[in-house]
Amino acid sequence: MIKIQVPATSANLGAGFDALGLALGFYNYVEMEESDRVDISSADDMVIPTDEKNLIYVSAKDLFDICGKKLNGLKIVQKNNVPMARGLGSSSACIVAGLAGANHILGNPLTQDDLVDLAAQIEGHPDNTAPALLGGIVTAVFDGRKVHWVKQEVYTKLKFVAIIPDFELKTEKARECIPKEVSHKDAVYNLSRAALFSASLLTGKFENLRTAVHDKLHQPYRMELIPHCREVFDIAYTHGAYGAYISGAGPTIMAIVDEENTYFAGKMRFSLENAGIKHWQVHEFMIDNDGTKIIEK
Ligand code: HSE
Repeated sequence: MIKIQVPATSANLGAGFDALGLALGFYNYVEMEESDRVDISSADDMVIPTDEKNLIYVSAKDLFDICGKKLNGLKIVQKNNVPMARGLGSSSACIVAGLAGANHILGNPLTQDDLVDLAAQIEGHPDNTAPALLGGIVTAVFDGRKVHWVKQEVYTKLKFVAIIPDFELKTEKARECIPKEVSHKDAVYNLSRAALFSASLLTGKFENLRTAVHDKLHQPYRMELIPHCREVFDIAYTHGAYGAYISGAGPTIMAIVDEENTYFAGKMRFSLENAGIKHWQVHEFMIDNDGTKIIEK
């Protein structure tokens, strides 16, 4: 039995829609071994598909097929810490666990680049899958077949504070609300801010982040699907966040905060409660620079 550790991710980072993402120090664990049947279970109380439609299984089978190997079955035990459909990369974590596990079982026939490409082909965009595999902050362009990417390790005094509502928002629904076309002006608005985001994060020019997280491609539309979204942004800025954005397709809102802002999470919880915004969770994470690991063999 091998054990795979896959980080949660936060994609888009405001303006970098479908292009930027980073890995968080918060992990799902998957135990996996070859078997003569499909035997999938959850190590916690999260309800998961236990048949061949399970995303970890589907991804592992894809890799076996590509390598020309027959897969009779797998024993999979999932420990899902990352909540589903909240914009923290839970689907990508499954895809990446399936691919990394299957590749390990077969003796690593595919390279890391192959895995990045394959994960994006399954998911449709690379901004969660690539950082889940690689760690750090990843800038990625997916040409439909191949991902052209750069991973940068991040050593900053920043923490990423996830403000997680108690409802789900499926990515398909959060993509349906986005317009099919945008103006040239809006395209420039976004590409300039996406570039500013990673440059500012990596050089410590954190005062730029508030400008850099604004976008006109997805957040204005997705806000309408996330009750209290604007209020949560306002509260986060009141408590000193450098920037706040919808994590991935939402509904989680991510605040970027100085690690010296010790009481940020506590103050967020207090203010949310006072504003009548109940049952949202607030968790602090650091960036993970390592990506997916096989931690037991
Ligand atoms: N870039 C993707 C989106 C991330 O915003 O829809 C979710 O998979």
